[in-house]
Amino acid sequence: MAERSISIRVPGTSANCGPGFDTLGLACTLYNDLTLELTHEPQLEIVVHGEGAGAIPTDARNIVWRSIQYLLQQAGAEREYRGAKIEMENRVPISRGLGSSATAIVAGLKAANVLIGNRYSRRELLQFAAAIEGHPDNVAPAIFGGFTISTTMRSGVECFSFVPKFHLTFVVAVPNFSLPTRAARKVLPEDVPMKDAVFNIGRATMLIAALTRGSERFLRASFDDALHQPYRSKLVPGMYDVFRAARRAGAVGTSLSGAGPSLIAYALERHRCEEAIGEAMKSAFAAHDVHADILTLRLDMRGAHVRKE
Ligand code: HSE
Repeated sequence: MAERSISIRVPGTSANCGPGFDTLGLACTLYNDLTLELTHEPQLEIVVHGEGAGAIPTDARNIVWRSIQYLLQQAGAEREYRGAKIEMENRVPISRGLGSSATAIVAGLKAANVLIGNRYSRRELLQFAAAIEGHPDNVAPAIFGGFTISTTMRSGVECFSFVPKFHLTFVVAVPNFSLPTRAARKVLPEDVPMKDAVFNIGRATMLIAALTRGSERFLRASFDDALHQPYRSKLVPGMYDVFRAARRAGAVGTSLSGAGPSLIAYALERHRCEEAIGEAMKSAFAAHDVHADILTLRLDMRGAHVRKE
């Protein structure tokens, strides 16, 4: 097969959405682009622009390249394509809780899949991506777009993707320090009290009902969490103060974005209070000596897709 290149766009994500630890996620309008050429010759050329340039490995350890190899091996095409030219244009901040590693994995899988003739469906790509990442809640929205509920069943990872009844805006405070997911998972307990599990089941199911039916009252009551945020709050100075400040400025809910350290406030677009929320979050963080950049994002409804061939 002739060598050709493909360009893929993948949205950043915010996982957990409060009570949906390792289950809920959303895709947002912040994108990483990947251009991939598979080569028959064994060579590896990786160029990174934007976020992570100079820090992301550009050798065989690179996660995009490892994901490409994973897909080629699944397809039995690793002997045909032994090298790659990879160019990344990254806008999703690295290790900040906005799904940067998921975007890399999904971009590599999707691009390689297109180049070998779209042998795998999105559901199959989800299986590969979740196996590489270890949990499905970032890779699912990166693949499907929208809000996603994903869970591992006997049949594999199943994902339900939906667009809520509300027009939501996400105001994200991105602190100037990184927090590797591995470190943020280490502070979590092996077991949780039954009352905390019940607390989260109630909030998570109510959240989905509120989003799909369009109930503002129930939405406001549904973003809290007892399973991971309380343990992780010590890793993010001022977390609950930032949440309170965002709520006071008009947010309908707040949560740690993924494993953090970014914090996300959910606002209804028609309330037009994004600017006030952003300022409130920034100054609440500043009171704890944390500088944060503010991003105002919306829901991506498309997921990973081909840009141009
Ligand atoms: N659900 C994962 C966690 C998301 O909270 O550890 C990591 O981005």
